[in-house]
Amino acid sequence: MFLIYLLVTAALANANDLFGTWTTKSRDVLTGPGFYDPLNDKLLEPNLTGISYSFDDDGNYESAYYRAISNPTDPSCPGGIMQWQHGAYTVFGNGSLVLTPIAVDGRQLLSDPCRKHSGQYTRYNTTEEFKGFTVDVDKFNRIKRLDLTRADGSVVNPMFLAYQPPKMLPTTTLNPMPTGNKRKRELLTSGSQLTAREQLINPDRWWWLGVLMTSLGGVAFFCS
Ligand SMILES: *[C@@H]1O[C@H](CO)[C@@H](O)[C@H](O)[C@H]1NC(C)=O
Ligand SMILES: *[C@@H]1O[C@H](CO)[C@@H](O)[C@H](O)[C@H]1NC(C)=O
Ligand SMILES: *[C@@H]1O[C@H](CO)[C@@H](O)[C@H](O)[C@H]1NC(C)=O
Repeated sequence: MFLIYLLVTAALANANDLFGTWTTKSRDVLTGPGFYDPLNDKLLEPNLTGISYSFDDDGNYESAYYRAISNPTDPSCPGGIMQWQHGAYTVFGNGSLVLTPIAVDGRQLLSDPCRKHSGQYTRYNTTEEFKGFTVDVDKFNRIKRLDLTRADGSVVNPMFLAYQPPKMLPTTTLNPMPTGNKRKRELLTSGSQLTAREQLINPDRWWWLGVLMTSLGGVAFFCS
């Protein structure tokens, strides 16, 4: 009985430990407006590959991935894959962590820099399940470190605390588009210019853009 109590309180303490923005060693990939620009519906390519997760204290998460993918037909020309999602997270009593995205908001960009017009920009909707996670102070750089273990037992590259409170886009639905909206779908697959530049956006302005986005999204829904 006592043991169960200990396990439960440990799991609850861990849920609070997630609070913040975490990033892998390159520190170049961070959630927030520098990775995904919802107003222009565009993913912004970082200089270096990496992974970032953010968790607020209200059950919302955001994730950003940027990985190189090998190109078997031309090894000297690797492609890239960017994925962005946000939604709700749950920590269960057994220590597992489940991230459930807002399905219409997730984005993926597959890029092949050696070919023109090769960017494939699509929606992305994948629930992530982690068997467990730990938050410790890293013994080398003394920064808080998050280790996630996937459901299949593999571990995600360690991530380090970058911001607290977390750097996140608005946690509500950003692109409320009905799946049958053909025009918006075309925009989604064609409007995929990569910008290799970090965009610094004033948070106050950002908030208004978020409000504007939400209302524009609503208008688009009713006009379609
Ligand atoms: C998103 O993924 C979930 C879980 O795989 C699935 O149930 C849901 O239908 C998907 N939604 C969309 C809009 O693709
Ligand atoms: C942990 O509990 C949740 C909810 O009961 C369950 O869905 C999940 O499969 C469990 N995970 C493991 C690794 O046992
Ligand atoms: C990428 O590198 C360039 C040149 O070093 C720098 O000016 C730019 O800010 C970097 N971009 C990001 C997203 O870090």
